[in-house]
Amino acid sequence: MCKDSLYIAKKTDYGIYNGTEVKMEDAQNILNWYILAGVDAICGEEAPNYLACKETASTENSATVRPATSLLAQTSSAACMQARDLCQKAQTLDDLKALVESFDGCALKFSANSTVFGYGNPKAEVMIIGEAPGADEDRIGEPFVGRSGHLLDKMLQAVNLPREDCYITNILPWRPPGNRTPTDGEVAVCLPFLYRQIELIKPKVILLLGASAANAVLDNHDSISQMRGRFMEYTTANGEKIAALATFHPAYLLRSAGQKAKAWNDFLRLQNKLAE
Ligand code: URA
Repeated sequence: MCKDSLYIAKKTDYGIYNGTEVKMEDAQNILNWYILAGVDAICGEEAPNYLACKETASTENSATVRPATSLLAQTSSAACMQARDLCQKAQTLDDLKALVESFDGCALKFSANSTVFGYGNPKAEVMIIGEAPGADEDRIGEPFVGRSGHLLDKMLQAVNLPREDCYITNILPWRPPGNRTPTDGEVAVCLPFLYRQIELIKPKVILLLGASAANAVLDNHDSISQMRGRFMEYTTANGEKIAALATFHPAYLLRSAGQKAKAWNDFLRLQNKLAE
């Protein structure tokens, strides 16, 4: 994570870089450099001084630090309970979408541009679950519409399963800044919304893309290599059992083309299961 701070005010001819005044031209150059380096998200308008925080933390005794940590834990467990309670009120996907959009219990919402809710056929036999929206999904507001989504579409087409026949969603409806891995707390707060989507869709098969999705839904810590390619079971709160198949995430396949054959086999298994 980048911990630099750059402040550029509209009506001045200078900027402030890590607390030091710099010429506007230099400030612009620094900004361009961030963009070239791939920085595509900012976390706040107030630039925190992380070094000062570190110094304070190291001089504080653990007794003073602990309440802040437990306050954070309390806040996220309260948010989880709130999410769970809200979900029970949602009788349709539209209700649920409106609830997710109005839910403020996950901080990711405030750095994201869009709430990316599930998309597709509400009566789908196949529900596809990924991790979290990326930059394209955050911009467009739909899951799997970027490079990973294009590969996913091709794999689905190869087994005669058009994207429009599926329901596609993510564990998290908001993009973590810079595509960082979501924290356990963020996943926990958003999971009730996903569980409710599963209950409302009632798919025949859940296809889990990548370890994060599979670990969150199946509540385990297994690696994707251990899980992929075999049918497991997801049990809803009402005790209904749904077949769940994990496979590699398309983003991983874009980086590791050698694994595509295994993913192809997984998609064939999916096709056979749907034909049963
Ligand atoms: N990766 C995901 O896990 N989900 C998306 O929607 C896009 C990329």
